[in-house]
Amino acid sequence: NLVYILNGPNLNLLGRREPEIYGADTLEDVAGRCTEVAKTEGLTVEQRQSNHEGQLIDWIHDARDKAAGIIINPGAYTHTSIAILDALSAFGGPVIELHISQVHRRERFRHHSYVSRRADVVIAGCGVHGYELAVLHMAKLLQG
Ligand code: DQA
Repeated sequence: NLVYILNGPNLNLLGRREPEIYGADTLEDVAGRCTEVAKTEGLTVEQRQSNHEGQLIDWIHDARDKAAGIIINPGAYTHTSIAILDALSAFGGPVIELHISQVHRRERFRHHSYVSRRADVVIAGCGVHGYELAVLHMAKLLQG
């Protein structure tokens, strides 16, 4: 079972960007741990990051015939992108929305998520550990 882990804008700077909010681990560190956790669960993960909305949408479309599930941290597009919501709505498998920070404790503009309308599960506030939790939970969802 293949699972896509998609990361949106600015997450390439993870570990260097506002570490007091997002922590010191890089996206590469996180990806390495997700690959390991996925292996223990019998899953394969494909992990991608883009700063471009259209690129994320194209990957969500690709997932339609390639991936069983999607884990997505859409970054700030969470709060702005009906287009990403629509792309996820055209995907048939489970979707987990993930935020490193506890968005509801932050600025008001981070409290609303378009993506949550489609997400089966939302994880927020676990720091980067949320990615491993998402992989574990995705395994559960895919087992039915
Ligand atoms: C984020 C939260 C968003 O509000 C923010 O724009 C991000 C990261 C998180 O992982 O906590 O870029 O999705």
